[in-house]
Amino acid sequence: MKSVFDYLVQGVYIVSTEFENQMAGLTAAWVMQSSFKPPMLAVSLGPTRRTAELIEKSGKFTVQVLDEIQRQVAEIFGYHSSRNFDKFSRVQWSRSEKLGLPIIEGVLGYFECELEGRLESGDHVIYNGKIINHKLLKKDGRPMRFLMRDWF
Ligand SMILES: Cc1cc2nc3c(=O)[nH]c(=O)nc-3n(C[C@H](O)[C@H](O)[C@H](O)COP(=O)(O)O)c2cc1C
Repeated sequence: MKSVFDYLVQGVYIVSTEFENQMAGLTAAWVMQSSFKPPMLAVSLGPTRRTAELIEKSGKFTVQVLDEIQRQVAEIFGYHSSRNFDKFSRVQWSRSEKLGLPIIEGVLGYFECELEGRLESGDHVIYNGKIINHKLLKKDGRPMRFLMRDWF
């Protein structure tokens, strides 16, 4: 049945991190800019996510803007857990400029964040990160979006 939740337009992003040579990343729709000065981003993650577990330990993460043609990447990172599935062996990736975190090839750009705070939010945890670097990789791309439980 349709609800007003269906009208919340969301982007689709990859959030990644690394701790002691263990990488993790997931597809996330619950991402937003949370401050202008300093520039900050907040991501809301389920506590069972491997990526959340490693962000807690590493204190850093990236937010990568998926190109609308990267549906396959969104499915690899959104339908499997890094605990038992090597997502990064299924995509091309390189390292971010400042923090050296994994960046998926083909994304429109990325933000590198240092964890500033966490807020319990019902069954999720909001991780608030200070943006220490951001990089545009494609000028004419269109970001992937998620609406009414469908991709477009
Ligand atoms: C379109 C889409 C959006 C998603 N958004 C979020 C989100 O905002 N927060 C979250 O915790 N999980 C979200 N997920 C689910 C995670 O990507 C999924 O549980 C993933 O397997 C967790 O991987 P990990 O255990 O390697 O961290 C989303 C999945 C999809 C397909």
